[in-house]
Amino acid sequence: MNTFTRWLRKKWILYIFLCIPVFYVFVPISQYDTEYLADPAKYLLEYVGKAATILFVIVSCITPLKLLFPKVSLVNVLVFHRRQIGVSVFVYAMLHLVIYYFYTGTWEIFIEDWKKLFILSGILALVLLLVLTATSNNWSVKKLGAKRWKQIHRLSYLIMLLLIFHQAAQEKTGYRETAIYFAPLIILQSFRLVKIGMKKAKD
Ligand code: HEM
Repeated sequence: MNTFTRWLRKKWILYIFLCIPVFYVFVPISQYDTEYLADPAKYLLEYVGKAATILFVIVSCITPLKLLFPKVSLVNVLVFHRRQIGVSVFVYAMLHLVIYYFYTGTWEIFIEDWKKLFILSGILALVLLLVLTATSNNWSVKKLGAKRWKQIHRLSYLIMLLLIFHQAAQEKTGYRETAIYFAPLIILQSFRLVKIGMKKAKD
């Protein structure tokens, strides 16, 4: 392990990385960005939602990356930090929900909105993220057994589909922008499936 990789494995470096969306939000605010000034709550809602999505894509890319490039040290750094990155997805998604509550203003509108399909998909994704976050510890792996734990964590594929729908169903974002966010994950998963298929064909 070289010095750079050893440095990247430090927890405080990871926490700085995970806080980048928090630091970056001050940039448009300080620059009086018109999009931010027009509707600050909406801006923050979308911004935090995007941060959660990007972190979700990063954490979901780790398994295919590990399978495709097992010897690359940067990939092993990501494997090392996988749990914390996963937890950060949930934290940003929760923040997104809290901002959404303040954005709607009242409980009535907040609950009424849940009838919309794209909101429902976000809620379902958040509930499933809670399940994954709550079981992302050694105690849960031991209690559930490796096989059941793995089955539960396959829920991340369902979360991916729900998030794609949640983002793409919004008029402003649409499927094209959503595809850009999820492209790295879809490409890596496709290569992973090809590699698994080739290995099975050989055996
Ligand atoms: C309780 C669950 C959730 C609720 C109620 C919710 C609500 C919303 C709402 C109302 C918007 C639209 C804002 C607008 O009008 O432009 C939105 C956008 C978005 N949400 Fe969620 N959301 C939830 C869960 C999630 C989760 C779990 C993620 C990701 C991990 C997420 C990521 C996003 C993204 C990326 C956008 C689009 C931002 C953009 O491209 O403009 N949401 N959400």
